[in-house]
Amino acid sequence: MQTLKSDNTQKYPTWLSRLLFTIAENQRKQLSIDLHDTVLQEQLYLYRKMDDLIAHRHALEPTLQAELNMYKESLLDSIHLIRETCNELRPAFIEELGLVQSLKNLIHQYQLRSNFTVYFRSDEFKADLDQERILAIFRVVQELLTNAMKHSEAKIVKLSLSNDEEQVHLFYSDNGLGMDYSFKRDLFSHIGLSGIEQRVNGLNGNLEIDTAPGAGFRMTITFPYAAKKEVHV
Ligand SMILES: Nc1ncnc2c1ncn2[C@@H]1O[C@H](COP(=O)(O)OP(=O)(O)O)[C@@H](O)[C@H]1O
Ligand SMILES: [Mg+2]
Repeated sequence: MQTLKSDNTQKYPTWLSRLLFTIAENQRKQLSIDLHDTVLQEQLYLYRKMDDLIAHRHALEPTLQAELNMYKESLLDSIHLIRETCNELRPAFIEELGLVQSLKNLIHQYQLRSNFTVYFRSDEFKADLDQERILAIFRVVQELLTNAMKHSEAKIVKLSLSNDEEQVHLFYSDNGLGMDYSFKRDLFSHIGLSGIEQRVNGLNGNLEIDTAPGAGFRMTITFPYAAKKEVHV
């Protein structure tokens, strides 16, 4: 299996990557709050009104009642969808829960809608990371699991998070289809993997991909976590 390292020549400067991601995350957060406080509340209000109407108007014609119930269910689906979107835009309670528990919750969400089993190891992870790094790891894992679901056809996905005194290590592997090495130079032109590359670059880290047809897909990410100057936007 051959290894692809991310290509320095295509990188933004580190400070720019970090700034762009900080801005993007702040916008996501604001969008999540706006959605939650406006559209979601409005829909909850409509849902309660509808529920009330169906429950208390006994004179409703049965066909009309059935139709209203259908609309009520659709509204509920849409409420769930908005909740999920809010959560993806800004993972709830990530500060309170901490990285490991947030990753476990994320993995659980993916397990509900995928055919693979995720084995997650974090017992050697003790680093006390800042929010920027926590969010970066969370987003990287989110993209890797999305890719596993979309592209891999894997049965097993392994994720491990660990650290030594200077570096954090994130390792991903799946036993799925993998992909052809000849396409790999184009890999970083896709939004998802290049997003991961930019994030890792923003943390002064290194990224390697190992893949071949039928041989699964592996990614190794390493970045330093000694406190650095933070970017404030
Ligand atoms: N786990 C994986 N297994 C097999 N192929 C993958 C995997 N992850 C990514 N790929 C391949 O790499 C390509 C680029 O991925 P990505 O940058 O996330 O873009 P996208 O998911 O939007 O296609 C995918 O289209 C897919 O062909
Ligand atoms: Mg993707």
